[in-house]
Amino acid sequence: MDSVLFPWTEDLSVGIDEIDRQHRQLVDILNHLFIAVVQRRSDQVVSETLDALLDYAQNHFHLEEELMRKAGFRGESFDQHVCAHHAFMAKVDGIARKSLLENKTVAFELMSFLKHWLREHIRVTDKAYAHTLQAAGFCTRQWETEAREKIELQTRPWWKFW
Ligand SMILES: [Fe+2]
Repeated sequence: MDSVLFPWTEDLSVGIDEIDRQHRQLVDILNHLFIAVVQRRSDQVVSETLDALLDYAQNHFHLEEELMRKAGFRGESFDQHVCAHHAFMAKVDGIARKSLLENKTVAFELMSFLKHWLREHIRVTDKAYAHTLQAAGFCTRQWETEAREKIELQTRPWWKFW
């Protein structure tokens, strides 16, 4: 476990398997980049990591927002959560531009941002919706299967084959 930058720990679970699985995928994308940096392959992997993040995180955030809406979240806490997702996308997009247009080395900035953002966002912001979503029935087997199929359809498959 110490060969990864961000080991998954149970305190990150929101108690909904499909959401946990998607969070683990985001953590895996970060760990994949870390391994590439250790192996001095970050130049090849950084743009794939950015594409995978923009693609997978976008779909994951949409799902979370849809579930929160369906479970009755309104007002400031919902707006702030959506804002946090937008800020994540804007930051990753900014790093992608820096990498592509200015040809800057971004692997360390990206790893540091992801490590802190994912940990804090999952443990604090996402956990705040956990009980309400569970109570609204979004932890049933049937829902989990449908949600999983949906994100797999929406997300380009290449990031799975690294
Ligand atoms: Fe979230």
